[in-house]
Formats: sequence, C-alpha cells, structure tokens
Amino acid sequence: MSLRVRELVAGYRRGTVLHGVDLDVGPGQAVALLGRNGAGKSTLVMTVMGLLRARSGSVRVDGHELAGARPHRMARAGCAVVPQGRRLWAPLTVGEHLELAARQGRRRGGSWTVERIVEALPRLGERRRQAAGRLSGGEQQMLAIARALLTNPRLVLLDEPSEGLAPAVAEQVAEVVTSMLADGVAVLLVEQDLYLAFSVADQVAVMQRGRIVHRASTPEFRRDPGTAHRLLGVS
Ligand SMILES: Nc1ncnc2c1ncn2[C@@H]1O[C@H](COP(=O)(O)OP(=O)(O)OP(=O)(O)O)[C@@H](O)[C@H]1O
Ligand SMILES: [Mg+2]
Repeated sequence: MSLRVRELVAGYRRGTVLHGVDLDVGPGQAVALLGRNGAGKSTLVMTVMGLLRARSGSVRVDGHELAGARPHRMARAGCAVVPQGRRLWAPLTVGEHLELAARQGRRRGGSWTVERIVEALPRLGERRRQAAGRLSGGEQQMLAIARALLTNPRLVLLDEPSEGLAPAVAEQVAEVVTSMLADGVAVLLVEQDLYLAFSVADQVAVMQRGRIVHRASTPEFRRDPGTAHRLLGVS
C-alpha cells in the first residue's frame, strides 16, 4: 500500500501546526520521520489517521483520497496506528487485546496471528493473562504495537514505538517492522532513536515547524552528519 500526503494543513484550536506537509511512503517502504520535539510529527500521524481533522490538503492511500476520513474508515482502508503514549483498555487482559485485534485481522486476511506475534514478542505470551492496566510501560507499548499489527494493516504509522522499551525489546520491534516491509506494508516510523530508525527505514524525512524540510535515503542521510546536526541537534 502507498501513502501520498500533499499540502496537508492541520492543528489545534490554538493554532496551525502542519503548514503544508508533503510526504510519500511507497509499498514495502519505511520512511523515518525525524524532527525535534514539537516539530509536528505526532500531529501528522494523528491527522493522517483521521484522529485529528485536516483543514486542507490531500491524504491518498493507494490513490484513494481519504483526507478528513474518520479513523474507522482509515482502519477499514488498511491503516493502523501506534500512537505516542499507550492507548489500551486497562481491564482487558493481554490475551483479550490480542484476540480482539486478531479477529479484525482475520477478516482482512494476512499473515499476522496471535501465535506469530507472541513468537516475535515473547514477553506478551508470558503476560497473556495479565490485565493491560497492570503491565509495565514497556509491556504496554509492546501490546499496543502487537495489537496494531494483528489487524494485518497495509499501512502502519508508528509514533515512537521504542519509547520505554529495553534495547533488546526495541530490537524485536525493529525485526517485526522489517518483516512487515517484506510483505509490502508501508511504514511511517517516528523515532527518536536514530540507530533504530536507520536500521528499519530506507528513507528519512525531517520535519521542522510543520513542514518536511529534508528528504534523503538513509545511507545518504548517514553520510551527512552536518545536516543531521543542523536539523536535529544531534551529532
Ligand atoms: N492536543 C494538543 N492540543 C494543542 N496543541 C497541541 C496538542 N498536541 C500537540 N500540540 C502542539 O502542536 C505542536 C506539535 O506537537 P507534536 O506533538 O505534533 O510534536 P512532535 O514532533 O510529535 O513532538 P515530540 O517529538 O515531542 O513528540 C506543539 O507546539 C504542541 O505543543
Ligand atoms: Mg510526538
């Protein structure tokens, strides 16, 4: 599946945050969306998914115009999001969360099953009977990721998936995302951990004050630390 965003404008009551975003993610492609805190990365993710209303501009998924579509319609179109911070239903167990998502996923067909996700993220298997509200932060993040994947999406928006994860678990998540790419899924990955972003993404897009100000292939970007330093403040 492909995502094509053009001149997307969105924001909150207090003001506009996205000032005309242009972004493409092709099938089987992972684009790392980088940028300083407050640049508008999460706002872009939320707007693409329909969790925040676009004021203007275009969001095309496989050529279909979906700007302004509600989240359930985006989900039906094959899009899934792992929002920044975790959104679980605290009283449900891990197993129940996984089963609910898998039910949706089976309707769509696709290769992700509860067994496969538990194999990729074994900690979730160990915690299967635990209420989601009693999980550690990192475990909740894993569950949020697993749930999104079990719906067998064709486009996934991951907003800082490694936040709160131990490095070894972040590595497992990176492997899961990489295997999705091989299935032709399109991935937009917001990630502070550049090492992780580079290990997964083939393209890098840098956002600054609500616009994409730089695009490069990952190898190109890595060869150009001056630009990374200027745009992200990292060395
Ligand atoms: N719910 C909200 N209501 C009002 N303003 C918001 C809301 N969420 C974010 N903002 C504002 O929008 C701007 C962009 O925030 P956003 O969360 O999109 O940035 P970000 O790039 O994801 O940052 P971070 O790297 O810290 O996650 C910021 O100025 C922020 O204060
Ligand atoms: Mg954010």
